[in-house]
Amino acid sequence: LKKIWTQKIYKSIMRKESINMKYFIGADHAGIEIKSYVKELFEERGHEVVDLGPFSKDRVDYPDYASKVCKKVLEEQGTMGILICGSGLGMSMAANKFDGIRAALCHNEYSARMARKHNDANVICLGERVSGHGMIEAIIKSWDKTEFEGGRHSGRVEKINALGKIGSCRS
Ligand code: RB5
Repeated sequence: LKKIWTQKIYKSIMRKESINMKYFIGADHAGIEIKSYVKELFEERGHEVVDLGPFSKDRVDYPDYASKVCKKVLEEQGTMGILICGSGLGMSMAANKFDGIRAALCHNEYSARMARKHNDANVICLGERVSGHGMIEAIIKSWDKTEFEGGRHSGRVEKINALGKIGSCRS
């Protein structure tokens, strides 16, 4: 009987796939259709998601929403971001301009898992025109259940962070 209970407790601990987090979400007009679906998926997994817009389908510029989300993530320590545009590319490029943001464009489960496991990514970028609902769900599950491995990857992530302090190399 004791063995059965030990197994049950172990299984329930293993089922708890992630700790509850606070996320900020933003999109552009090409990512707005799936924004609420993505928000719900994170909420279903026990996370708090603060929607920073947009709230209409009017054309907007993705750097503006990347900026809103990244500023919040940097202001509130321990939070993460979700950014959606058509390809996910513009959002990830804009987000990675922010010192302290490690934004990962995830088009499949593997990249989502590695983004967390090796790169300790704190912003997930998705492309509404690239990934369908089923893939988005799989990506989020993969992202959410993976923790940063640390170890040899910590020094590399610190080196990424240090790059933000080097400054502009534009001619
Ligand atoms: C908008 O047309 C589109 O360019 C944008 O959503 C994104 O894909 C940019 O990278």
